[in-house]
Amino acid sequence: MPGDLHRGRQKVSWAETHMPVLGGIRRRFEVERPFKGLTVSMVLHVESKTAALALAVQAGGADVRLAAGNPLSTDDDSVAALTEAGVETHAVKGETVAEYRTGVEAMLEADPDVIVDDGADLVALVHTRRHDRGRVRGSTEETTTGVTRLRALEKAGKLLFPAIDVNDAPMKHLFDNRYGTGQSTVDGIVAATNLLIAGKVCVVAGYGWCGKGVASRLKGLGADVVVTEIDPIAALEARMDGFRVMPMLDAARIADLIVTVTGSVGVVREPHFKVLKDGCLLANAGHFDVEISRPDLEGISVSRSVVRPQVEEYRFADGRRAYLIGDGRLVNLAAGQGHPVEIMDLSFALQALSVEHLARHGLSMDRKVHPVPTELDLAVAKAAMSPMGVRIDDRTEAQARYAASWEGGT
Ligand code: ADE
Repeated sequence: MPGDLHRGRQKVSWAETHMPVLGGIRRRFEVERPFKGLTVSMVLHVESKTAALALAVQAGGADVRLAAGNPLSTDDDSVAALTEAGVETHAVKGETVAEYRTGVEAMLEADPDVIVDDGADLVALVHTRRHDRGRVRGSTEETTTGVTRLRALEKAGKLLFPAIDVNDAPMKHLFDNRYGTGQSTVDGIVAATNLLIAGKVCVVAGYGWCGKGVASRLKGLGADVVVTEIDPIAALEARMDGFRVMPMLDAARIADLIVTVTGSVGVVREPHFKVLKDGCLLANAGHFDVEISRPDLEGISVSRSVVRPQVEEYRFADGRRAYLIGDGRLVNLAAGQGHPVEIMDLSFALQALSVEHLARHGLSMDRKVHPVPTELDLAVAKAAMSPMGVRIDDRTEAQARYAASWEGGT
């Protein structure tokens, strides 16, 4: 269904009103026009906060093109608003995988100067289609999964242009991965099911920054949270944070809800489905829809039916039912509205500054994966403090001298 332009404008305006850091950067871009004459191709989750980023970069002089980073994450109303504003947008909620691929291809056909990627699908396409960088000055990447793919290209000596790893910048992962994924995952599950979290045994698979966020929000709502891990250090961290830790086969037997946040594949699979309690909810908050094995789920089910929007019931031969939320895709976007606006303000402020950095310096940067320059991270942190009512102390002269004495090795 085509989006509603009036609602789209309202949604984008609401997002922009609550994104003061990006707003400040946009106002500077309007004056400095750092992207004049450049094309910026973005593959991102197309919704209102992403629209605010696209429009900020457009305000800096770029011809911005946008395609969906996931078939279920699009907000059609925001697409209508973006199209009206002159951003060529290839995204429809519920699009087929073929349509999704066509959108990503259109981003390459636009012959971009800068790429903004989520999951490295566009960068991967450049590397399969081309042997040179074309006009690409560089790309930015905001997911753990995408950075893993970029590092593999770098290691193989095949990376065609510099890439900025936005994901690992403190101002991204400490907030977006933890508080963003934490709140929006729970939000998506609750919106889809209208069920209570308090008192449920909720199993969180994976205790990276996203898993930590999901576990802590579920605990805050009164769940009995169990963590599963394959990494001994993360497992111990989860234990000391107060969670029970156990293998998935044990956790699956007691779970009322399982949320996967691992970045891996087949985390919940046939042996686990066989021991689930009747009515267990299954949701994925990892980038790809491979963490909960759909082939295994379909293989052992005797029937399946959609019982609510974004909730599919799988019935097993012995009568037990499991409920898959959001098709096993990113539940916060498939069934919810994505990360809270203030969180995307921080992440997209970093993206906007990283795009500017590539536009200005990409052609002279090494073809490797670069961290976000520390000064950009600090600029975003400083700009975010006052809207959040946070004030801090300045270092005294004595403290500065003390720090300098250590820095000098004395
Ligand atoms: N909204 C826009 N981009 C998003 C992302 N990467 N994760 C969650 N919500 C988003």
